[in-house]
Amino acid sequence: MHRLNGRIAVVTGSGGIGEACARRLAAEGAHVIIGDIDQASARRVADAIVGEGHLASADFLDLTDEQSVKTFYKNIAEKFGRLDVLHNNAAETRHEQMSRDMGITEMPAEIWDRAFEVNTRGTMFMIKHGIPLMLKNGGGSIISTSSGAALRGDLYGPAYAASKAAINCLTLYTATQYGKQGIRCNVISPGLIVTPNVYVSNSQEQLDRIEKHKLTPYLGKPEDIAAAVAYLASDDSRFMTAQIMVVDGGVLDHMPYFSETIENFMADPANRSV
Ligand SMILES: NC(=O)c1ccc[n+]([C@@H]2O[C@H](COP(=O)([O-])OP(=O)(O)OC[C@H]3O[C@@H](n4cnc5c(N)ncnc54)[C@H](O)[C@@H]3O)[C@@H](O)[C@H]2O)c1
Repeated sequence: MHRLNGRIAVVTGSGGIGEACARRLAAEGAHVIIGDIDQASARRVADAIVGEGHLASADFLDLTDEQSVKTFYKNIAEKFGRLDVLHNNAAETRHEQMSRDMGITEMPAEIWDRAFEVNTRGTMFMIKHGIPLMLKNGGGSIISTSSGAALRGDLYGPAYAASKAAINCLTLYTATQYGKQGIRCNVISPGLIVTPNVYVSNSQEQLDRIEKHKLTPYLGKPEDIAAAVAYLASDDSRFMTAQIMVVDGGVLDHMPYFSETIENFMADPANRSV
């Protein structure tokens, strides 16, 4: 499909999911500008996309620095004069951050602040300075990234989760304030997606346990998120705004006993009747 021919699209972050999203948007015809604090990673992804015959470039972007966000957009305005798609994907997910984001009564202030500084404030800066460029050509589509962690309680990651819940709220406000001017704003809420980073933070045993809780027979891949992002970026979703799109294999949508009993349920029809 070439639903994004001629569109200018920004993707923040070029890690596991960001790379897949940038590749998919480019494959659909967009020129993708990848912004990352890790410029080498952004460039590697952009070069790979160009190598496949699509359009992409990379630029330095530090979400914690408003001036960096402004400079990033200034370069886009000078080169392209427009912005059609903004995909806010980047987040503070490093092990040194996540491994200290645990009990609320032990929460280090700097861990809480860092989660909000990168995830929430950074997303806000991208939206704040992206909207004026989008409005020059009648609007665009903003797709931010939240997490299932923002929709349920858990034992780990309250700062991360709260920073993502704030992005859900920011989505509603952006969609409400700028919808009539042609800007749609939605947020994707992924469940666990298998990226290289996931293997740093989770043992195989933990991943197996999570897989048992999915309603699908498999865990999610970065490409599953990329497909949802491409849909929300395209005119196929033109009547969809202010939504939290959950892409998680149904992990949040069943009773807690599911993973313990599903194998028995499937094994023998006798287990399905009384
Ligand atoms: N992988 C999962 O299971 C999962 C689940 C739910 C939500 N998510 C969300 O999906 C998104 C992508 O996750 P991922 O697993 O690909 O993460 P990742 O760690 O692989 O990539 C994060 C990217 O953000 C960039 N980044 C970090 N700080 C930045 C800053 N200050 N300025 C600019 N760029 C910065 C990093 O350099 C990296 O490229 C994140 O928002 C994450 O919270 C992921």
